[in-house]
Amino acid sequence: MKVLGIESSCDETAAAVVQDGYRLLSNVVNSQIDIHKHYGGVVPEIAARSHIEVVNPVIQAAVTQAGGTWDDIDAIAVTYAPGLIGSLLVGTLAARTLAITHNKPLYAVHHVEGHVYANFITEQAEHLSLTLPKNQPKFPMLALIVSGGHSQLVLFKNHGDYELLGQTQDDAVGEAFDKVAKIIGLPYPGGPSIAKVALEGDAHRYTLPKARMQNPYDYSFSGLKTAVLRAVQAECGKPYDFPSHELAALLNDVQRNDFAASFQRVAVETLVDKAKTAFDAYQPASVVIAGGVAANQELRRELSARIPIAIEYAPMSLCTDNAAMIATLGYYMSQTVAPTDPYSLEVVPSLSMTKTAWSRHET
Ligand code: KG4
Ligand code: ZN
Repeated sequence: MKVLGIESSCDETAAAVVQDGYRLLSNVVNSQIDIHKHYGGVVPEIAARSHIEVVNPVIQAAVTQAGGTWDDIDAIAVTYAPGLIGSLLVGTLAARTLAITHNKPLYAVHHVEGHVYANFITEQAEHLSLTLPKNQPKFPMLALIVSGGHSQLVLFKNHGDYELLGQTQDDAVGEAFDKVAKIIGLPYPGGPSIAKVALEGDAHRYTLPKARMQNPYDYSFSGLKTAVLRAVQAECGKPYDFPSHELAALLNDVQRNDFAASFQRVAVETLVDKAKTAFDAYQPASVVIAGGVAANQELRRELSARIPIAIEYAPMSLCTDNAAMIATLGYYMSQTVAPTDPYSLEVVPSLSMTKTAWSRHET
């Protein structure tokens, strides 16, 4: 069964075709990073307009690159939640229209659940050259989901059957990477920028705090971000009320690299500490990481070092936003729940992952 996935929840317009929930046939991603980096972050109105311009060619390219026509597509899966409302509307409207005109079943996918399913792609068509995991994860599966909007630990008992163990009580870890990058003067998106210069930095130069939470699986990253701001102010000899956007220019490259490395070390250790606590408590058969921050090499290294089972990682390009993960999850939904009505599907900009979103579409 071939599922066409469509993703437009933030600043990537993406479409992909995945067969039987594991074989990637095409993967097209049009990134808007070059447009938004001038503003230091995603501008929602610009994102929506840019999606409109490219959504149809991106979808058509995914169908063509999969080596077939619309006749070969068995179902469509689209991200309907969560995300920027204007961005979500473009992808869902395209998907609804195509489902109606081509008469295909439509599955409405939760973006964050989708990130987890990047780990289920283990094969690819000859024209693609990603380094993929060799085996699919097994249940029970512990997922560490770390993106620009989410930081959470989720225990999956089966497809569509999961329990949220804990989540961030304030900023997501990707958001913290992006904000710290801004403070120390590194370009958007902050995650890859920090990871790059951290390679040159001393990760123990600055002492930064780890938040203590009541629930052992909850996270908090806003205190860490503020601690970096205070340490930069102290390093530059400036008071708390000094304009934060003027601080970066006062740092030299060595200080900048050391701040990046010290922040990354504490952020990564915090993520892994809690993942390890959850691993010990629940003894899952597999551990996966998902979301944009899962592209972080330091996180992968630290997790593999501290979790006593082998972890296979999805390629970086399937960790950041893409539609292959949406198509993959769409396949597993199609095996379990009825398709959604293309005439009435609505977007849900804020939708947490406290319990499975699949039940919303059950008949
Ligand atoms: O999953 P994603 O592409 O979009 C959301 O759904 O949020 O995640 C984007 C986030 C951004 O905060 C970005 O800075 C972060 O992922 N990110 C990274 C890396 N690559 C992307 N963070 C740390 N290290 C990276 N290599
Ligand atoms: Zn995402």
